[in-house]
Amino acid sequence: MTALTLSTAAVSGLRADAIVVGVAKGAKGPVVAPGAEAVDKAYDGALAGILETLGASGGEGEVTKLPAPTGFKAPVVVAVGLGAVPDKDDTYSAEALRRAAGAAARALAGAKKAVFALPITDAADAGVLAEGAALGAYAFDAYKENGKNGKDAKNGKAPLAEVTLLGGKPRDAAYKAALTRATAVTEELNRARDLINTPPNDLYPEAFAAVATAAGKEHGIKVQVLDEKALAKGGYGGILGVGAGSAAAPRLVKLSYTSPKATKHLAFVGKGITYDSGGISLKPAGHNETMKCDMSGAAAVFAAVVAAARLGLEVNVTGWLALAENMPSGSATRPGDVLRMYSGKTVEVLNTDAEGRLVLADALWKASEEKPDAIIDVATLTGAMVLALGNRTFGVMANDDAFRTAIVEAAEEVGEESWPMPLPEHLRKGMDSPTADIANMGERMGGGLVAGLFLKEFVGEGITWAHLDIAGPAFNESGPFGYTPKGGTGSAVRTLVRLAELTAAGDLG
Ligand code: BES
Ligand code: MN
Ligand code: ZN
Repeated sequence: MTALTLSTAAVSGLRADAIVVGVAKGAKGPVVAPGAEAVDKAYDGALAGILETLGASGGEGEVTKLPAPTGFKAPVVVAVGLGAVPDKDDTYSAEALRRAAGAAARALAGAKKAVFALPITDAADAGVLAEGAALGAYAFDAYKENGKNGKDAKNGKAPLAEVTLLGGKPRDAAYKAALTRATAVTEELNRARDLINTPPNDLYPEAFAAVATAAGKEHGIKVQVLDEKALAKGGYGGILGVGAGSAAAPRLVKLSYTSPKATKHLAFVGKGITYDSGGISLKPAGHNETMKCDMSGAAAVFAAVVAAARLGLEVNVTGWLALAENMPSGSATRPGDVLRMYSGKTVEVLNTDAEGRLVLADALWKASEEKPDAIIDVATLTGAMVLALGNRTFGVMANDDAFRTAIVEAAEEVGEESWPMPLPEHLRKGMDSPTADIANMGERMGGGLVAGLFLKEFVGEGITWAHLDIAGPAFNESGPFGYTPKGGTGSAVRTLVRLAELTAAGDLG
């Protein structure tokens, strides 16, 4: 957890391991970004030239280290690339600031304290810089020798512990609120990353439920856990069917955050497959090594509900975590089995690897019973969505076009890439089953949309619903970039928090 503060002190006198400045890509070479005027002055106005000599261009994410000017209490200046200089009269975009702060924080892993002299024109800028810094200063080292966040891990460096943002108005209420928000959102988002990165032998449904119960106590959120007995009694055939092959029994967790001032109620539903082997329709080697990430939707929902509670948003938010482990065994659901779902519908399981829609179906129907103003589910649902949109963009489907648009816009506002996807009715017949009401698989083409159409049938009549397929961006298998680490990313957390904020403000639905 990174401590975030604001300061307007003179940069030369600040004790820190490094001073971070911004450098942008200008038409004629690198340009020092606003916020670093005093630093540049201490180099006699030669900072841009020095950076150019060192080969810096100002390209996004580029990091250049140089000795600090004489007289500075900090030994090093770190110049981080912001990308292109903004057009005249314009300022750096929120996402450019977030990414630069994240890249700088990552480059400073192992250091204790840094001062960020980056562009701040308003409270929102301070907020996104804080977000980027806290999200970049992340490491998952719980399983490293001598590891634990904050300590010196023998294997790997501890994340940057303290960031002071230079500039802005530290005593201004808007600035304070921006930092408070950034702290709550990033701490919960990083906790979601921890859950995603935790190996599946330790994070099984019961363990995840225990984490939720503990967090509920800490933040005044009511948490109810349905164990396998309660699920059987309640007729949750989807969740039980998916969990049937595992030695670790499934759970359905309900988190209820309520505000006395709320007039609206949002329900978030997360796919929480703590490990997806594919079940009897076993995934081949090469497709199962990262499948601990298949609970990323549930992790995002959990983090968003806790963040909403910490921020005291004036909206009621219910989070549903549909937790199961998808394993093959003598007790596992077979391709050909028919499940009776919580809604009463029957599903012929043609492929046990299409398990996410089965657990979500039960949770969506349960969530619908409370008649929330809207339901948003989040799931690492299909490989087809990854093929369609790549590794950094999640797909958004909905039973309401305006709602889908609002979600894509909210995501963009908080720096998450998403794209609207359709739910073409003609794909429904591919899921017709000779035996049951519906099959859990349809046409291969448009597989992400087929999955969305399946879910749609388990949303209560008249309820506004959207489905976020985060299979691409949930888990970063390539190198880190900006504020995004390798491994669990915390995809959709910021979008869900934003949607809760918009609903509280009466600006959504
Ligand atoms: N968890 C997977 C989807 C996935 C793929 C997530 C890649 C993250 C990265 C899901 O349960 C799955 O196996 N989906 C199948 C569905 C198919 C059998 C209809 C898929 O996409 O292949
Ligand atoms: Mn699967
Ligand atoms: Zn899955």
